[in-house]
Amino acid sequence: MSKKVAVVTGSNKGIGFAIVKGLLKRFKGVVYLTSRDDARGKAAVNQLNELELYPEYHQLDISDRESVLKFRDHIRNQHGGIDILVNNAAVADGLLGLNNTYDQSKNTININFFSVLTVQELLFPLVRDNGRILNISSDCGHLSNIRNKYWIERLSNKNLTVNDIKEFANWYLESFKNGTFNKADIADGGTVAAYRVSKVALSALTILQQKELASRNIAVNSMHPGLVKTDMTTGIGFYDIDQAADTPLYLLLEAPQDLKGAYVWYDRRILDWYDYNADYYFKSKTIME
Ligand SMILES: NC(=O)c1ccc[n+]([C@@H]2O[C@H](COP(=O)([O-])OP(=O)(O)OC[C@H]3O[C@@H](n4cnc5c(N)ncnc54)[C@H](OP(=O)(O)O)[C@@H]3O)[C@@H](O)[C@H]2O)c1
Repeated sequence: MSKKVAVVTGSNKGIGFAIVKGLLKRFKGVVYLTSRDDARGKAAVNQLNELELYPEYHQLDISDRESVLKFRDHIRNQHGGIDILVNNAAVADGLLGLNNTYDQSKNTININFFSVLTVQELLFPLVRDNGRILNISSDCGHLSNIRNKYWIERLSNKNLTVNDIKEFANWYLESFKNGTFNKADIADGGTVAAYRVSKVALSALTILQQKELASRNIAVNSMHPGLVKTDMTTGIGFYDIDQAADTPLYLLLEAPQDLKGAYVWYDRRILDWYDYNADYYFKSKTIME
């Protein structure tokens, strides 16, 4: 029988790197460290080799369709399939400035949401029956980050489609571009709006992905890893990367297979993603203090 395969996107540093490290210690199979930049990826592999951990490496820029295609072909030819896929790669352009430019907002939404659609299209068909997919979202991905009633209703609709989510992402970008963005539409005074929109879109998409893959008993969940000391937060946070990898590793290796389509908090609590009145939204003062 062919070996099991795990893949983590954006894993040359940060939480993705720690998930690869944990998988290398605990997952019985091949673990792929992937990065958009070859040199950064290989440096990360060397770091793990010093710990006597030996991941496979492949370049993978999720925002570059050609790169995703090359990676898909490589996995198909070498292994035939994927058992664990972690959609971790993301950016928070201008996050700590709290006032993004349009280009930063577009880049954030492109990488954090639209690129995951490319991964879904090209890599999900390789995920084997009974596999697991984990989307690393954020507290910014809980529905309570959205205050616009129309979008709360539309994103909560049980007949949600991927088109609804794309329109949500484009609604924000358009409103930013044409100067009609209303800060009251987003929690916390409209701060970090693009990142919130990208992660709400990702967590909403998780629910659709779960439906799509249910017949093959593949578990798809999204989660918030906590506020973690990484480059994304310029080192601000309550947890280091290995602590932050604990719940992702639990979800990938130990959680019951029937945990599906859930939004999971860093302490393993399963939250009601639809509870738009809840207090789970990101408060920018937590990184400003
Ligand atoms: N840190 C936190 O407090 C926190 C809180 C909530 C959620 N999260 C989420 O946790 C995940 C990991 O974040 P982190 O804090 O570990 O951030 P990080 O240290 O900045 O790492 C992000 C990783 O994603 C990669 N990446 C970015 N764009 C990519 C692309 N187009 N294709 C492939 N890889 C790409 C980066 O590669 P480069 O090195 O080339 O830039 C890097 O390896 C993200 O989804 C983030 O949104 C983090």
